[in-house]
Amino acid sequence: MTRNRDHNETLLGNVSNSKCSKLNDRPCIVFSIILILCIPISFILAEAFMSCCIDYFVTKPSKTSKIVIETTTRSIITSSPSSLAKNIPAAKCGKRIMNYHKSWSGYIEESKVAKLTHLMFAFIKMNQNGEVSFFDSSDRKNFVDMRTKARKVSDDLKVMISIGGAGQSKHFSSVLSDSRKRQSFIDSISSFLEIHKIDGVDIFWIWPEEKDSDNIAIFAKELRLELTDRAESEERKKPYIISFAYPRLVSHMESMTCLDEIMKYADFINVISYDYFGPEWWPETGPSAPLYSGPKGKDFGNVDSTMRYLACHSKRPSQINMGLQIVGRFWENVKGPIDESDEMWRISEPVNGKTQGGTFSWRGSEEGGFDKTVAVWHNESKSSYIWNPKQGTFISFESERSLMEKMKYVRANNFGGVFLWAIGTDDDDDDTLLNEISSFELCTGEEKDTVKYEC
Ligand SMILES: *[C@@H]1O[C@H](CO)[C@@H](O)[C@H](O)[C@H]1NC(C)=O
Repeated sequence: MTRNRDHNETLLGNVSNSKCSKLNDRPCIVFSIILILCIPISFILAEAFMSCCIDYFVTKPSKTSKIVIETTTRSIITSSPSSLAKNIPAAKCGKRIMNYHKSWSGYIEESKVAKLTHLMFAFIKMNQNGEVSFFDSSDRKNFVDMRTKARKVSDDLKVMISIGGAGQSKHFSSVLSDSRKRQSFIDSISSFLEIHKIDGVDIFWIWPEEKDSDNIAIFAKELRLELTDRAESEERKKPYIISFAYPRLVSHMESMTCLDEIMKYADFINVISYDYFGPEWWPETGPSAPLYSGPKGKDFGNVDSTMRYLACHSKRPSQINMGLQIVGRFWENVKGPIDESDEMWRISEPVNGKTQGGTFSWRGSEEGGFDKTVAVWHNESKSSYIWNPKQGTFISFESERSLMEKMKYVRANNFGGVFLWAIGTDDDDDDTLLNEISSFELCTGEEKDTVKYEC
């Protein structure tokens, strides 16, 4: 810059101070004028060229280079299809270690993200017209943070949104039964996935009824068609993912006649295989998720009955994920066992018509003063519990051992994976449970949809 300015000043100085002889005066002045005029004119011409014509020359090659860049990125992804498999053995055979990240629990830690194959943001809101959106700006911030961390870990880590949940399922039935609203819902989902550059959607409807089954089947099909079209027009390398949360009770599942259609059009279902026992619902004590068994004469179901039903009826265990909820439950005012031979199943006597007790997280158990080291193993249900006859308190919780029994069960029956509800706040600071789950070898080498039950 400095040098140029010096140069111009010298040039102008020379012109104004030129010692032209009288004879050569006129041509000298004309030459000087031309020179002085030329500088701004050439500047203007150059500017004009830069603003219009350069665009023409630059745009074309830049389009080509964009395509080249995309192709390069793709070929990098293709050449390392299992970048997650280094840390997550289940990823080697396409099995899933998933987590729902609760939007209200703030940011998720990157150390946790790195132990997952799928990360779902729960929940996204939908209105009565089927339009989906974040609840508020802090949700959006948490989502962007989650996606950024996931993309940093690996392009293979699938980022999804989950629509619905306990408080937000009220519009599903009316939207899915109205073809116009259903189309708006599908359009809204598709645009959301595209705008936010994520991999798929999970429908977390609590709970559909028998009358909704046909509409779910139609919806699943239409959503798949739309997302296939979108993926093609966006030149996505991999198809969009569709999943559905699925109920646990056999009586409920029997009314869901849409299972085959869901399995055909969705990639997988996430079975809510927990909450079998809890003081919020019943006075009977028991594990939130007993793998087997239950109190004599009462059928609350168990994880095995749920998973067996689904594997037998779908014949597609590879598309079924078992839910793991890392919680404990406690009951107060608990009386003697329902059956003398089994300590696990008891009755809590309600106070003023209400069962006394609650739910705590794994982390919360330490804060709440529950001493997990005195827990007893219940072989029939494959669960841990603490019974304190003096205080009349009963505690059941998902321990490392009970979780490992569930992981073995998932592997032995060729299920497609597990999901956690939800690791962010439930594990301890060292990710004790997530580490065990994430490092578990789920691959068996068997044909993926081999059903191991006698159906
Ligand atoms: C524990 O249960 C299994 C069946 O799940 C049974 O085969 C085994 O004998 C039981 N062990 C004990 C110590 O009761």
